[in-house]
Amino acid sequence: MTQGKVDALLGIVFGDEGKGKVVDCFTPKYDVVARFAGGPNAGHTIIFEGKKFVLRSIPSGIFDEGKLNIIGNGCVIAPDLFMAEAKELEAAGYDLKSRLHISKRAHLILPTHRVLDRAYEAAKGKNKVGTTGKGIGPTYSEKASRTGLRVGDILEGFDAKYQALKARHEQMLSDLHFTEYDITDEEKLWLEGVEYMRQFPLTDTEVEINQALREGKSVLAEGAQGTLLDIDHGTYPFVSSSNTVCGGVCTGLGVAPGTIGEVFGIFKAYSTRVGAGPFPVELFDETGDKIREIGHEYGAVTGRDRRCGWVDLVALKYAIMVNGVTQLIMMKGDVLDTFPTIKACVAYEKDGQQTTTMPYDTEGWRAVYEELPGWQTDLTQMTSEDAFPQAFKDYIKYLETELETPITIVSVGPDRAQTIERVKA
Ligand code: IMP
Repeated sequence: MTQGKVDALLGIVFGDEGKGKVVDCFTPKYDVVARFAGGPNAGHTIIFEGKKFVLRSIPSGIFDEGKLNIIGNGCVIAPDLFMAEAKELEAAGYDLKSRLHISKRAHLILPTHRVLDRAYEAAKGKNKVGTTGKGIGPTYSEKASRTGLRVGDILEGFDAKYQALKARHEQMLSDLHFTEYDITDEEKLWLEGVEYMRQFPLTDTEVEINQALREGKSVLAEGAQGTLLDIDHGTYPFVSSSNTVCGGVCTGLGVAPGTIGEVFGIFKAYSTRVGAGPFPVELFDETGDKIREIGHEYGAVTGRDRRCGWVDLVALKYAIMVNGVTQLIMMKGDVLDTFPTIKACVAYEKDGQQTTTMPYDTEGWRAVYEELPGWQTDLTQMTSEDAFPQAFKDYIKYLETELETPITIVSVGPDRAQTIERVKA
């Protein structure tokens, strides 16, 4: 934690790295916790005081009194889903309205954006992205087209603005011949959500964050999705629609590059991807199934099976570079406990050519592996690095050497106690 700085905590592969658990361990140290990109396509699972919560739009600092939580200008927000998420937390006794500020500049996801998401996916035929269906792409497109509605719009003359945009969407859907939808119930809830959101401080969050930094407070920027789903740096077009990389922290919160402190990059001891798109390390065999089963690799938002494979050093090196990662956090080491051999993808190969840097088009590349001995030891009860079996220590060392970045935290199970801090190398 750096006083007067914004530390970034980022998933650096395809999301689902287990940020929820890490954020839970990190947040007590920070004064402000802010989301800077994405929306309800995220699902951060947090187990707090024996209860399980899945946070989608709300930052993970919400459980601590006295902490300011911010939904930044780079986010998109669906009032109905926000209301459901917030009310669940309120019912569990957390006082949100004093702890959560929402940027007036964040964009609103309309019910018709979700219909458009489905319509665009349907129109893509076999080239579907496999979106979460939450209207993310259409909302960010609209932001770029300068026709979107922002949170600040709900404060004045909202009804007319909403009706006008909805009518535009209906026309777009009709042009796409996508007419089989009914948003009546959804819209009712959505409008209730808008009313509910009016009870929250809707503010100029960039001013608040910069004020906090001037006062020497610490800010944690909580990432969503992962680097390879970034609109610029991911496996386009199979990506989400926001900047999930560290640069997105600056634009999504309104902070200058010089305010960025530590950049924590989270990855798993293996790889997963949900949705369509290239994934050179994907395993279609029993090993892939075994990783999925042991690692419970099913989507938090959609429940879909996650595609599984070995760790991908090509992708990780690229992500470390574009984010300026200063420290790595390796999750789910224990999932590989029973494997006699561990593999790491060190290059991609296509048509007899190899590359160790991320290609422009990751389609059609095959992974080239190096093999390492497995540790075949239960890591889940281990509370310090000293207890780790030599083969696991070697795996960590191997990754640190290849990635030229220290792994300062290793997680060996879902519990807070199974998070082992290593001395910064
Ligand atoms: P969208 O963000 O719903 O438009 O989905 C675009 C792509 O990003 C799809 O492949 C999704 O499965 C993927 N995606 C979006 N959010 C997440 C996430 O939080 N974790 C993992 N994958 C995600």
